[in-house]
Amino acid sequence: MRVIITGAAGFIGSHVAEMLHAERHSVLGIDDLSGGFVDNIPKGVTFEKRSITDELDGLFQKFKPEAVFHLAAYAAEGLSHHIPVFNYTNNVVGTANVLASAYRAGSRHFVFTSSIAAYGHPHSDKPFDEATPCVPCDPYGTAKLACEHHIRAGYDYHGGPAYTIFRPHNVFGSRQNISDPYRNVVGIYMARALENKPMPVFGDGSQTRSFSHIFSVAHAIAMAPFTGEARNQTFNIGGDEPMSVRDLAENIAREFGIKPNLEFQPARNEVMHAHCRHELARRVFPQAYARALDIRAGLKEMAAYVRSRPIPAATECPALLEITDHLPPSWSKRLAHRAKA
Ligand SMILES: NC(=O)c1ccc[n+]([C@@H]2O[C@H](COP(=O)([O-])OP(=O)(O)OC[C@H]3O[C@@H](n4cnc5c(N)ncnc54)[C@H](O)[C@@H]3O)[C@@H](O)[C@H]2O)c1
Repeated sequence: MRVIITGAAGFIGSHVAEMLHAERHSVLGIDDLSGGFVDNIPKGVTFEKRSITDELDGLFQKFKPEAVFHLAAYAAEGLSHHIPVFNYTNNVVGTANVLASAYRAGSRHFVFTSSIAAYGHPHSDKPFDEATPCVPCDPYGTAKLACEHHIRAGYDYHGGPAYTIFRPHNVFGSRQNISDPYRNVVGIYMARALENKPMPVFGDGSQTRSFSHIFSVAHAIAMAPFTGEARNQTFNIGGDEPMSVRDLAENIAREFGIKPNLEFQPARNEVMHAHCRHELARRVFPQAYARALDIRAGLKEMAAYVRSRPIPAATECPALLEITDHLPPSWSKRLAHRAKA
């Protein structure tokens, strides 16, 4: 099959590209390298440096992808309150642009990575399932939910392309960007551990997440267009094991053979406990779940990767700050000079 993957130089996109290329699909990766790295692109995958907000028809008409995996986004959830216009332009207008080009090129399947952020704050003790009402509480989650509705409405109106929407959560593993100070807590802690520097913890670190290793998540995403039951479906995808941010930092310190050195910072206004149910994904993608690593085994895999290469240069937020009020102090030090006048 001919497939286009946006965000192919990123973490999840590069794993999806690797899996599809290994299965002998013809893969074209598109990425503007604002948050990914050219070294992440697997050998054999054709690469085009391009923003998803730019003109895409030329590429799509030439390549004629049968399936499009749209993963490109700036995925800094907390920071999205401070860059709302950039967030909606990149993540919503960009998605509308990719979907329109896919439609005009005759693509039959559109795979989109939404996020657990689409659910917002939990309204009960129960983990989110796919029927839980979505009430996002930040611009990043709002953008993801808007894209979901846009993709479904497009299918209902135009009759195609068929879609599969994934809501992943807290994915980590090899090739994740460990040098973005505003996202990827596992990466931030590993970069700190490598340099034996303190690990920043917002609040008391009791907030919990189900950190999810990449292999099973990428496998399910890659399989979507080839899985009948994934057609026009929405799936939570990821692990089930809750872990506090504080325990995560301690596990990573142990993995790197150092004493945990936690630097407590004022609490952020964020979702405290975010967990999902995955019965649907487990049933439809049993092979993906069969290869799932638990958090500790996953941390080992990622730590081995991180140790094997130099720490990449820090990637900065690709946009000027639009609203500076209520920035966490640790971010405002870095970003104060990058605010819009
Ligand atoms: N990692 C997670 O835990 C997680 C959880 C939920 C959802 N997601 C979603 O999965 C997708 C992939 O996330 P990831 O963790 O691999 O992030 P990532 O930053 O590693 O990958 C995203 C890629 O998109 C590229 N990109 C951003 N804006 C672009 C633009 N305008 N044009 C072209 N390329 C652009 C970046 O350069 C980067 O390589 C994103 O849509 C993200 O919102 C990720």
